[in-house]
Amino acid sequence: MRLPPLLKWPGGKGRLATKLEQMIPPHRVYVEPFAGGSALFFRKSLAKVNVLGDKDPWPIQFFNRVRLGGLRKCRGGIKVSRGLFDRSLQGKHSRSACYQLARSVLSYHGDRATFGAAARRGNLESAQKLRRNLPKYEQKLRRANLRIGGFDGTMKAYDAPDAFHFLDPPWPLESGYSERHYHGGGKRKGSKKPKTKAPSDRRAFDPAYVRDVADKMKGAVLIIYGDHPSVRQAFGKMNGKNGWQVFTMKVATNKGIGGMEQRVNILAYKPARKR
Ligand SMILES: C[S@@+](CC[C@H](N)C(=O)[O-])C[C@H]1O[C@@H](n2cnc3c(N)ncnc32)[C@H](O)[C@@H]1O
Repeated sequence: MRLPPLLKWPGGKGRLATKLEQMIPPHRVYVEPFAGGSALFFRKSLAKVNVLGDKDPWPIQFFNRVRLGGLRKCRGGIKVSRGLFDRSLQGKHSRSACYQLARSVLSYHGDRATFGAAARRGNLESAQKLRRNLPKYEQKLRRANLRIGGFDGTMKAYDAPDAFHFLDPPWPLESGYSERHYHGGGKRKGSKKPKTKAPSDRRAFDPAYVRDVADKMKGAVLIIYGDHPSVRQAFGKMNGKNGWQVFTMKVATNKGIGGMEQRVNILAYKPARKR
């Protein structure tokens, strides 16, 4: 049941899922409280209990529609089509899994606001392979507990000594990235309305707050962040404390059209508390 992510999502971990999978300790409960496109969930094998949570209802409602068979109705598949993308933005289609998928994979970096399919054919091909893989996606999602809500509530609700929490939080607000993508979604040119309407909770954008919530968990925690001064500040002195290991990982990422660049990620791992 190793599957590529269905959605294209800002900060999605599709490219890193294989590496991250190797860092997963044995666990009974899998908790992904910043689910977004849930790349690692789709990549890894299922646990006994699987939890996907996000404060933004959009991906969670999409996953629920998928497991109820919503993608079986996509007539004509998902093509690289500006017209299809524009239709996917219309309110009347907002409850259709097919249009939701089109809106995500046809957008620029998964922002669900700007047409940008041409630059990312990879995701699109995986969307077209969908028909073959669909029963597997549905089956896997049927095994997940889907939760709309803040990451801290999700973690507390499912924490246990044999839980594993995988945290891929939004970037710190100072980076500007989260402001554009998750925290009210930035603004379209000439518009007062945010591009997307992801509900916000400023604490999730503070690496020190995320660290403190993670530190209190009985279960193991793996956190991945992009390299940013406030992340370094929050995790710099954690090495060795309470079993935390902090390390970096270089990853090749798309620079946009015309190339790749090496980006540094900061990873922090806390083992489960000894019983
Ligand atoms: C970097 S993305 C996760 C990407 C995901 N790992 C993937 O592979 O697609 C961060 C996610 O955190 C969510 N988020 C932001 N604030 C949150 C909060 N307070 N609680 C839970 N989720 C939150 C955003 O909606 C976004 O989906």
